Amino acid sequence: MFKKKLILISLFFMQIANCITHPDLSKQEIRWDWKKIDYSDISFPKNFLFGFGTSEYQISGAKNCPHSNWAYAENKKKKNGKDFLEFKSGKACDHWNSYKQDIALLKQFKVNSYRFSIEWSNIEPEKGVFNKAAIKHYHDLLDLLIENNITPFITLHHFTHPQWFEELGGFERESNITYFVRFCKTVFDQYKNKAKYWVTFNEPGVYVFQGYVRGVYPPGKTNTHLAGKVTRNILRAHANVYNVLRAIEPNKQKAQIGIVHNITQFEPFNPKNKIEKTVTYYLNHTFYDAVLDFFKTDKYKFKIPLFANVKYEYKNAKSTLDFFGLNYYSHVLISWKSKKPQYRDGEIATDMPYGIYAEGMYRAINQASKIGVPIYITENGIADAKDDRREMFLKQYLYAVSKAIKDGYDVRGYFYWSLLDNFEWDMGYDLKFGLFEVNYKTQERKLRKSGLYYKDVLERHYQKYLPKSK
Ligand code: FCB
Repeated sequence: MFKKKLILISLFFMQIANCITHPDLSKQEIRWDWKKIDYSDISFPKNFLFGFGTSEYQISGAKNCPHSNWAYAENKKKKNGKDFLEFKSGKACDHWNSYKQDIALLKQFKVNSYRFSIEWSNIEPEKGVFNKAAIKHYHDLLDLLIENNITPFITLHHFTHPQWFEELGGFERESNITYFVRFCKTVFDQYKNKAKYWVTFNEPGVYVFQGYVRGVYPPGKTNTHLAGKVTRNILRAHANVYNVLRAIEPNKQKAQIGIVHNITQFEPFNPKNKIEKTVTYYLNHTFYDAVLDFFKTDKYKFKIPLFANVKYEYKNAKSTLDFFGLNYYSHVLISWKSKKPQYRDGEIATDMPYGIYAEGMYRAINQASKIGVPIYITENGIADAKDDRREMFLKQYLYAVSKAIKDGYDVRGYFYWSLLDNFEWDMGYDLKFGLFEVNYKTQERKLRKSGLYYKDVLERHYQKYLPKSK
């Protein structure tokens, strides 16, 4: 009894100490004086995972993933007769057929990890029919990664799924979760001896915001209440998958299972403006807070007066996370006067509608740390067609990650988005995120100049931990 009390009291004090050393930065738009910062002053723990992130559909396209809901959506028309999706993916980087060449790039770069997604629609093109060739394809890919000492980091759902699943109502219907669980179990049974890191979902907030609030991703709906329900079912599915996979492999040394979530701080352009403050509150709520709060408090609340009211409780939601995958790009400033993206003085714009704001990475790590599990930066990158801002971007964001680690945050990996230029969903091919530029006609890959900086960081990192020769 006394022991129990003592534990509770120490936990309470640890919590207070944590709040003092790591105060909540979600609403604090911090700024650092970059002129005074030494970018070479960065370091990462010995077993830190350094890598790249990709997703199958974005690098293999509709041609190589023909049974996916995106491939179908690319042929869909809107009521006005116009195409639902302006941009078509084609075969993208044709990674499905040239993965060997791409793994050679990873090797040449000396990354020790690679985050990629397994395309459900290729594994199970028809309900209940599993494609042997596709299963073998990922065995071959995994074998090649392992042969090259590259740790696989697998995503099971990265925005796309089979068209048959979409037609059944996707994650709109709780009863469909069982299909996703079956797929996850099938691939886990296949590859569990080859891969330790498993991500159930990529960015539930973005998936739902784009597909069910803005309606620019399939299924193209604009129903906020439904968005709340879909997120709830995704959280249910996540917990379900976690429990099923954990039962197959109880040893956490062998399998680490988590979720990937995006944090984008929406901030009022004018902090005193009440309308901007209200709008940003609800954007933060739908986009990421509802999911973060679920893992922090066991309670999922998706509430927007007059539009949505969805609730869900799960006992010890945090126990369904061995890690939290954080995707961070930037903050977004909301101004009621202008529809154009807004930037603070001195902030450099990227080709996406947001600026370079590395302090936000530090804040996002702080926000994610409140869940209390290890963090991996599973995506961070810049669309920069001219390649004249990427080096600065990498310097500042890697500095922010390194500073967070120095300040005691448990960050265990960093994956640059992305290895290759790729199909950026509803925005097509103009956004160039790749450290390798892709010529889509010849499929040639070419390292961008800014890539040398990332390469150098990795080389210095490995050098530091090389055994000292006597
Ligand atoms: C993230 C997505 C990823 C890519 C980057 C730029 O939201 O997870 O697929 O589109 O943005």
